[in-house]
Amino acid sequence: MAQNWTPDSWQQTRFTAKHLPHYEDADALSDATRTLAGFPPLVFAGEARRLREDLGRVAMGQSFLLQGGDCAESFAEFSPNNIRDTFRVILQMAAVLTFASKLPVVKLGRMAGQFAKPRSSDTETQGDLTLPSYFGDNVNGIEFSPESRVNDPQRMVKAYNQSAATLNLLRAFAGGGYANLREVQKWTLDFMGRSPWADKYQDIANRIGEALDFMEACGVDIIDDPHLKGTSFYTSHEALLLPYEQAMARQDSLTGEWYDTSAHFLWIGDRTRFEDSAHVEFLRGVNNPIGIKCGPSLDSDVLLKLLDVLNPSRDPGRITLISRFGHDKVEKGLPPLVRAVTREGQPVVWSCDPMHGNVIKADSGYKTRPFERILAEVRGFFAVHRAEGTHAGGIHLEMTGQDVTECTGGAVAITDEGLNDRYHTHCDPRLNAAQSLELAFLLAEMLNLELGESGRAAA
Ligand code: PEP
Ligand code: CO
Repeated sequence: MAQNWTPDSWQQTRFTAKHLPHYEDADALSDATRTLAGFPPLVFAGEARRLREDLGRVAMGQSFLLQGGDCAESFAEFSPNNIRDTFRVILQMAAVLTFASKLPVVKLGRMAGQFAKPRSSDTETQGDLTLPSYFGDNVNGIEFSPESRVNDPQRMVKAYNQSAATLNLLRAFAGGGYANLREVQKWTLDFMGRSPWADKYQDIANRIGEALDFMEACGVDIIDDPHLKGTSFYTSHEALLLPYEQAMARQDSLTGEWYDTSAHFLWIGDRTRFEDSAHVEFLRGVNNPIGIKCGPSLDSDVLLKLLDVLNPSRDPGRITLISRFGHDKVEKGLPPLVRAVTREGQPVVWSCDPMHGNVIKADSGYKTRPFERILAEVRGFFAVHRAEGTHAGGIHLEMTGQDVTECTGGAVAITDEGLNDRYHTHCDPRLNAAQSLELAFLLAEMLNLELGESGRAAA
């Protein structure tokens, strides 16, 4: 167990807390956190331990991590259809990746708790009015008005309730037959019909169908077999809003260990992963698997110190390093980190976030991410790991199951002018359903190349 750690030790003045909202009314804040501390956990210690084991297998090169979902969940976009559609695309992507690479895929949603956002500026100006920035629906409102931009602690309680309802539906989908492989294959065939690259993808989709036919002919009940009927699906978010995360910390009655029960997996953002960060201190003491975003400003010595603090026992599965360099920086920036971590013998999952280093402003004024740049970063990430002999272990995406127009490019090419059609995100631009699935097919090819070269395919 972590030494000298308590759920509130991050509040000590020796730690630096960045990107935390200031609440004017301290009593209102304690009311909200007391309410949350009395609520049931959203996830259970045993589930977080199981995810750690699953990720341990990714770290050993025997599995692949698929993490995806909204940049920011919102109260306004909360609906069963949105949850279902994102879940569905993640399953489709996982089926394609599993089939093509023969590796199990760990499925992790940026869902059921991904509300808080770090912002580059504390304020936003429109015309001659300057207001506090929007920090996510669990802090303040997106509408540009003085009332909406007030930080309200009760929003944390509302976010908890929405997370509970989201998780309830995800658990039902994952366990109740909705994740059945035959269904997943049918949805994928449906997508094929609409993709201009249909011929290329049709082959993989047909082969998945044949494998299912074969299993059925051999007497496997693919509708009711427990291995095929359900799936494991985990949740994650950035552990940014520490008063909320602290209120959700619980001690496991079986082991005495602490867990942050707001999600199975929590990550530390690129802006809060420095030495002496309050966010690092909080996550040091909880036993969930955790992620660290690694951007161009991260020095390898600092990274090694963070790993010593966060994973002193060098447990594979505890740490996922999520690199987000940008398409033009990954091949230069990532190798020094990979070499340092490998030299130290730290077993980690290497995952690629090709979203956050590739944001540009389109001529139309919208923030966007060109699909070609996203793909270029993923290719760079795989190339670095191939050269270093390490496992390109995962992908971290901002995506949705909806047919939005937020990232340009892809096979059903979205143009700059087309961004205006269905641009709905509360924060950063997301891949839509077709772009996500297209990326999965391309990823499957890259994974195959890695596995073919290293002979790890039989793992
Ligand atoms: C995010 O994942 O939404 C995010 C803010 O990323 P980063 O910390 O890598 O900038
Ligand atoms: Co984002």
